[in-house]
Amino acid sequence: MSLQNYIRDIQGFPKEGILFKDITPLLIDPLASQECLKLLVSTLKDKKINKVVGVESRGFFFGTLIAQELNAGFVPVRKPNKLPYETISATYDLEYGTDTLEIHIDAIQKGDRVLIHDDVLATGGTIKAVSELVERLGGEIVQCNFIMELSFLNGREKIKDQEIFAALTY
Ligand code: PRP
Ligand code: MG
Repeated sequence: MSLQNYIRDIQGFPKEGILFKDITPLLIDPLASQECLKLLVSTLKDKKINKVVGVESRGFFFGTLIAQELNAGFVPVRKPNKLPYETISATYDLEYGTDTLEIHIDAIQKGDRVLIHDDVLATGGTIKAVSELVERLGGEIVQCNFIMELSFLNGREKIKDQEIFAALTY
């Protein structure tokens, strides 16, 4: 099975000039989703990961599934003012303006072995901000993984020190 067949190109979304990679055909197909999950955990079996951090919102879909598969806890990183308990936050640059992400201060303990998961690695701004949050709480980032990497946007350059895995690369 080729996972690529379950990613739909949408021209001009969310705005003109952008070719959007839509993962909903993958999510709606149980066999393709299982295949994707298998790939995402394939490199992680002996890595003793005890926390999976999923990035709101599209990082939640597979984040919880990966956590179950690895017998690890799931930690949501969320957009501002969504998490109810005490948080720390990181702000990162967008094409126009900035965005902020938050994590609960007690979600990661010093020495936790962490996988960060998101659907797409694009410019890398999001994953860099999430990495900072995890490291500020004392977590050790074992890998960052993604359903797909848009390699032409060079997101890897922003997280050079980290191990990166993507099920698909464009
Ligand atoms: C998208 C995508 C990644 C991020 C990647 O999320 O789901 O999280 O952008 O881009 P970057 O590598 O350039 O930072 P978005 O902020 O659109 O929100 P969503 O997941 O809630 O749709
Ligand atoms: Mg996202």
